[in-house]
Amino acid sequence: MMQKWNRKKAHFPLLAIFVLVFIVFTIIHNERSIQQIHENPDHVHNKQEASITYVEPNLPNNLKEASEILDRFSRCNSTRGYSGRKIAWADPTTPEYGHQRVSSEICDLFSGKWVFDNSSHPLYNESDCPYMSDQLACHKHGRSNLGYQYWRWQPHNCNMKRWNVTQMWEKLKGKRLMFVGDSLNRGQWISMVCLLQSVIPSDKRSMSPNAPLTIFKAEEYNATVEFLWAPLLVESNSDDPVNHRLDDRIIRPVKLLWSAEENGTCEELDGVGAMELAMGTWANWVASEIDPFKKRVFFVTMSPTHLWSREWEPGSEGNCYGEKTPINVEGYWGSGSDLHTMHMVEKVLSRLNSKISVINITQLSEYRKDGHPSIFRKFWETLSPEQLSNPSSYSDCIHWCLPGVPDVWNELLFNLL
Ligand SMILES: *[C@@H]1O[C@H](CO)[C@@H](O)[C@H](O)[C@H]1NC(C)=O
Ligand SMILES: *[C@@H]1O[C@H](CO)[C@@H](O)[C@H](O)[C@H]1NC(C)=O
Ligand SMILES: *[C@@H]1O[C@H](CO)[C@@H](O)[C@H](O)[C@H]1NC(C)=O
Ligand SMILES: *[C@@H]1O[C@H](CO)[C@@H](O)[C@H](O)[C@H]1NC(C)=O
Ligand SMILES: *[C@@H]1O[C@H](CO)[C@@H](O)[C@H](O)[C@H]1NC(C)=O
Ligand SMILES: *[C@@H]1O[C@H](CO)[C@@H](O)[C@H](O)[C@H]1NC(C)=O
Ligand SMILES: *[C@@H]1O[C@H](CO)[C@@H](O)[C@H](O)[C@H]1NC(C)=O
Repeated sequence: MMQKWNRKKAHFPLLAIFVLVFIVFTIIHNERSIQQIHENPDHVHNKQEASITYVEPNLPNNLKEASEILDRFSRCNSTRGYSGRKIAWADPTTPEYGHQRVSSEICDLFSGKWVFDNSSHPLYNESDCPYMSDQLACHKHGRSNLGYQYWRWQPHNCNMKRWNVTQMWEKLKGKRLMFVGDSLNRGQWISMVCLLQSVIPSDKRSMSPNAPLTIFKAEEYNATVEFLWAPLLVESNSDDPVNHRLDDRIIRPVKLLWSAEENGTCEELDGVGAMELAMGTWANWVASEIDPFKKRVFFVTMSPTHLWSREWEPGSEGNCYGEKTPINVEGYWGSGSDLHTMHMVEKVLSRLNSKISVINITQLSEYRKDGHPSIFRKFWETLSPEQLSNPSSYSDCIHWCLPGVPDVWNELLFNLL
């Protein structure tokens, strides 16, 4: 069944039928660093090695063999260095740099500060949401300090519209809201479902089984809130929603073609290079397929990590474990936000100016060192007490507890709709 679905998967063009699209993208190596922490606890303090991604040959249609499926069993026949080929921009009239995205609005929603406000937040209770994920339910898994739930985002020059679930459903009526991306985007999708589900009677809502495409449906509004697992944004060997923890990533950006002589040889790229190819493919798709009057596309920027406490507290040796409050240094950046990657992303996005809206969550989430599950989550395998007493090796400082930071990303979306 899964195989069949994969075979038929038409990646980006598939999205074209949606009334409302929500594209999200975070960084390729995020998942990987958790894996590294688990498999290699001794090296947690070392700078993470650059991950290698392979780009698979993508032959012109007339040369393609019908059975060519890219899945987790795919291997490269041989590899070589990156040839440097780039995604050709479909519409050459689009300038490489669009108009500088100077926001004409009076207020920049993404520049602001966190305010402790236990009267307005959390927007829902962890135990009241039947769709909560065990990876994100921090209270259930033993976190006793619940401070992370009580913060409101306050932009400097204006107020955000308060979250109103009725109004959100009115906006979603007859539409599909789709989140696309990796596990961080799945967290935001779960947050949205938790925010929305409370006002729908249980016999009037449904959730499809976990699959590459998972669908939450509310009958009375004829609306769905969906999540498409596409961690690398383009066809890849990590597209299986369960078995995607692979040593070697292989991507196949649709617009990049190899010739017949190059048959079978993958090219080797670092994470940022591979992401640039994936982003280029995605941007071309948006530029050519999206009619802004029919569909809206949002791009959520990178979600930062908090792997080394020495970055916000010099001299300390921990990670996000035990953190109780946000960082209150305006403009703080840690190594969890890769500025090189952010610059590349901004460059690609600037060409799509009128077609997409950016939800720039990087800086505001960067302040929230207190918002990650650390050890308070379900682990893939049962950990021994010795392992659990070693938070420096077993903390998840990448994903976010719910209720928490992703709820605020969704409040921003609500404000931009
Ligand atoms: C690629 O190589 C395989 C075997 O190595 C061969 O069967 C196939 O025909 C080749 N495809 C093209 C397009 O040359
Ligand atoms: C909110 O926080 C204040 C200050 O910490 C505390 O006195 C109050 O009891 C809290 N209220 C609720 C509803 O948690
Ligand atoms: C969460 O639960 C508490 C106690 O049961 C209740 O007072 C509060 O109103 C609930 N909050 C939300 C947002 O439902
Ligand atoms: C939410 O919006 C609805 C419809 O616009 C309005 O009737 C209701 O009072 C709002 N609720 C809150 C809590 O503001
Ligand atoms: C429900 O929404 C879909 C689009 O998502 C539309 O095609 C269909 O006609 C709608 N059905 C009703 C009963 O409104
Ligand atoms: C790669 O190698 C496998 C067997 O080693 C072969 O079946 C396949 O056709 C090769 N693919 C290409 C594209 O050469
Ligand atoms: C997001 O905001 C940061 C500043 O907070 C900026 O450096 C970055 O370029 C922005 N990203 C995009 C895609 O606009």
